[in-house]
Amino acid sequence: MSRPLFIVFEGIDGSGKSTQLKLLCERLAANGRKPHPTAEPTDSTTGKMLRAALSGSDPRTAAEMAALFTLDRIHHNKCENGIEKSLDAGFDVISDRYYYSSLAYQGSLTDYEWVRRMNCDCPEIKRPDLCIFLDMSPKAALARIGSRGEATEIYEEEETLTLFRATFMRVFHSLTDNIAIIDAEGTPEEVSDRVWDAVKTLL
Ligand code: TMP
Repeated sequence: MSRPLFIVFEGIDGSGKSTQLKLLCERLAANGRKPHPTAEPTDSTTGKMLRAALSGSDPRTAAEMAALFTLDRIHHNKCENGIEKSLDAGFDVISDRYYYSSLAYQGSLTDYEWVRRMNCDCPEIKRPDLCIFLDMSPKAALARIGSRGEATEIYEEEETLTLFRATFMRVFHSLTDNIAIIDAEGTPEEVSDRVWDAVKTLL
């Protein structure tokens, strides 16, 4: 059995991350591993401030959002039941979003290099073993968001998601991290098989 893994799901809003995260956790458990699902923003005080900003009820600048997401991420690494402690306890940590989202979203809206350094040079933000990017066209992603019937968030517009998807791709070409770009269109089972092909190479 390999050491505990830290895997991150990324994608534009509506790309199916939560479904795929759940399916991956089920497959890891079926293979005798202990998955620990988690997400950003977290439930911390900072995470709650971020949710209020994302809903549009407490608007903030892009730089404020970048700083808040970074603070929340440090907390996510260090807190009780957080990333570090869960890995130390032998769990595979699977996170719905991580610093790639800050680089793509806030990095598109404020100074990219500042956002990159704040995250990638931070000694308290761990690098994942694998980032799985669920790639989907903004049109298809927005159709999925619409079919959920939930309140939309500030970034959920075609033009914005098109910009973020392009920035994600630039981010992936500029970092040395282990990244798997996966076609997220198809049935959840088809996409889950593609995700598993990328994960099983690490087991
Ligand atoms: P979610 O809808 O996938 O839960 O993510 C919440 C929103 O927050 C989504 O629009 C992406 C955005 N976000 C950022 O802008 N920067 C970040 O660093 C993170 C983690 C999320």
